[in-house]
Amino acid sequence: MLAGPQVTINRPAWISSTGGGHRSSARSPHLQRRVTPSAIAAPPKHSTPPAKAEIFRSLEGWAADNVLPLLKPVEKCWQPQDFLPDPTLPAAEFADEVRLLRERTAELPDEYFVVLVGDMVTEDALPTYETMLNRTDGIRDETGSSPSPWAVWNRAWTAEENRHGDLLRTFLYLSGRVDMVMVERTVQYLIGAGMVKLRHSPYSPSFSAPFGPNQHACLEQH
Ligand SMILES: [Fe+2]
Repeated sequence: MLAGPQVTINRPAWISSTGGGHRSSARSPHLQRRVTPSAIAAPPKHSTPPAKAEIFRSLEGWAADNVLPLLKPVEKCWQPQDFLPDPTLPAAEFADEVRLLRERTAELPDEYFVVLVGDMVTEDALPTYETMLNRTDGIRDETGSSPSPWAVWNRAWTAEENRHGDLLRTFLYLSGRVDMVMVERTVQYLIGAGMVKLRHSPYSPSFSAPFGPNQHACLEQH
């Protein structure tokens, strides 16, 4: 047996202490901090050398032929509703499905919900990620609907990830184990704060975004 240091995880403000999904009026200190423009670091001054941006743009044909076909058609994707109580059922049957979900989650340790909320909050900042990805040099989606295959991929990646957040949000809400108001405030702060773009180069984000769905695809198969 491995002996490691004892780790104490404090109960986050958004974990219901009773498992009953109460709405806490207490405000977490970190949520009271207001994010102002002056509190955000200045953007880096460097940019991608023109030659590197041009190389990236020259790969658009390759990306259209080899990357975009990897996108799974929407009709073949699972949707959040596939894993959630069916609201089209008669009220009593829907209530039964919700009750079963709550019974299944009632005994899960708080740590599970810490992870799930962290995942959900991360997914909910997708507007920030898409904006950042499609502003990099070599993509520069000025309209928000650029036909550049890199921009198309990033939008599809965003839509893919959005389903994960939708499923997590509804699952957590129905479980009654999480203070959703605190979670929603956190998401509102997060999206409102934006994200400093550390690099203008399209290379790193454009090759990490494709691996995101691949990771999820692996997870979904297990
Ligand atoms: Fe995801």
